[in-house]
Amino acid sequence: MSSHYAIPKTFAPAQRMWPGKTIDRSPAWCAVDLRDGNQALPNPMTPAQKWRYFELLTEIGFKEIEIGFPSASADDFQFCRDLIEKNAIPDDVVISVLTQAREHLIRRTFEALKGVKRAIVHVYIATSDLHMGFVFGKTAEQTKAIALESVALIRQLADAMPESRIGLEFSPEEFTDTNLDFAVDICDSVIDTWNPKAGEKVVINLPATVERHLPIHYADMIEGYMARQRRGDAAIISLHAHNDMGSAVAATEMALMAGAHRVEGTLFGHGERSGNVDLVTLALNMQYLGIETGLDFRRLEGIRAEIEELTDMPVSPRHPYAGELVFSAFSGSHQDAIHKGLDRREELAEHFGGWKLPYLHIDPADLGRSYERFIRINSQSGKGGIAHVLSTEYGVRLPRQLLVDLSRHVQTFADQQAREVSAKEVWEIFRGIYLKPEGALRLVNYWPRPRTDDPATIEGEVQVVHRDGEQRVFAVGNGPIAAFTHALRKLPGIPVFTLTEYEEDALGTSVDAEAIAYVRLENAAGEGFYGIGFGANIDQAAVRAIVSSLNRMIG
Ligand code: KIV
Ligand code: ZN
Repeated sequence: MSSHYAIPKTFAPAQRMWPGKTIDRSPAWCAVDLRDGNQALPNPMTPAQKWRYFELLTEIGFKEIEIGFPSASADDFQFCRDLIEKNAIPDDVVISVLTQAREHLIRRTFEALKGVKRAIVHVYIATSDLHMGFVFGKTAEQTKAIALESVALIRQLADAMPESRIGLEFSPEEFTDTNLDFAVDICDSVIDTWNPKAGEKVVINLPATVERHLPIHYADMIEGYMARQRRGDAAIISLHAHNDMGSAVAATEMALMAGAHRVEGTLFGHGERSGNVDLVTLALNMQYLGIETGLDFRRLEGIRAEIEELTDMPVSPRHPYAGELVFSAFSGSHQDAIHKGLDRREELAEHFGGWKLPYLHIDPADLGRSYERFIRINSQSGKGGIAHVLSTEYGVRLPRQLLVDLSRHVQTFADQQAREVSAKEVWEIFRGIYLKPEGALRLVNYWPRPRTDDPATIEGEVQVVHRDGEQRVFAVGNGPIAAFTHALRKLPGIPVFTLTEYEEDALGTSVDAEAIAYVRLENAAGEGFYGIGFGANIDQAAVRAIVSSLNRMIG
């Protein structure tokens, strides 16, 4: 594999200042989903889909949207016409349209723009040695001449539309592979030719058309460009990174540190090959740093679902921020830490002065995600995860040893199934193992009551079906549970047992919440058997739990 890691000989920074700088404000955003994103979809969007996508971009807060390449596609031409004729472009949104630097395409682009209030004409020409020399067979001088002729034509056509405000964007395609002095010269000359009115600026979009270098290279070139440009007074320096090496976000962030003003990209990184820079990740990284971006991703799950449908492309479950799994933990130790962190999240926020939780770098609620599904169960999961799932989904908090016991069963099940186990399945495993109202023993009724001569003592009659025969036994004890166990011991064939653990809880918070009881009975050999019972009150739940446990012991 050949390597392109070296910075091209044409550019070596004398002083690299940008690593000492930080990003302290949001760039201007331009969404190119409807052009760069759409042109790279296996199934390009229909006009109706593009329409909805446009609305979605405005809802998120984009103020600059590149809507297509009208001279290259009949659909894009019509889409542009529809937006203008149906007056669908919000007043605070400016559309841009792409064109190559060719006369007939520029003229056709202006036909698409007739009647627009505001628009940017985005003209590009390739400036790298590879493209100029080998794809187009042109010299740098010829390329520059074509660019300037095109800009002069755009100026002339824009002046002929005084009712519209037409701006200019110029991209030296393959900027990151272009001789820097040439890039500066052609862009400055473009600005001169455009001859901006007072206060007007030209978008100079400097693309990493193909990511062929480490991210540092992009920042070096942007810093070098900005230090050398003559027309910085009239230039908005824009970034447009593709993601061939997977570093488009990092490259863009570094180039912003180097001073760029504007970023072009797409939601979820749609675009040619491995895509454009992903604006969701980039903007949310900034939000994470405390920078107000003007973009609203509070309903990110809904946005993701809509984009998946419109583009017919899935978003990776590992996509930062938006992926289905990015706030999930499967491993036991992570689950345990998150479970503890969630329990103490207010205390942690106070201690650290804001959101800080083990293994969760932002508060998922900021993106409209709820806490309940963070912890998911598979064969890697442990007690913490099972405890979390049962407490958040079913409101039960198991005693520790019962949890240890249950997690072994859940792990065996997950191993056998070789897949994730749902919360419902965990609940069913739990009930299936520990809730045994029927077996060797079935409780028909139990009537505990205080003795009339000694109210501290409970007497009770237990009615059970034991090994197919109905029996009634009577006993006393210092409480309803003690009386119940004493009665059971009188039944012939019931093994010797001791009650070694007993816990109860309410399922829910209302006064008439159902109760759950957990008991552990030990047989003569010291083996323990957990059982659970539900009931309208704790006594009822407890005796049912004892029956469950005995049925498990008898087998
Ligand atoms: O990637 C690129 O260089 C482009 C240009 C047309 C700006 O998309
Ligand atoms: Zn591009």
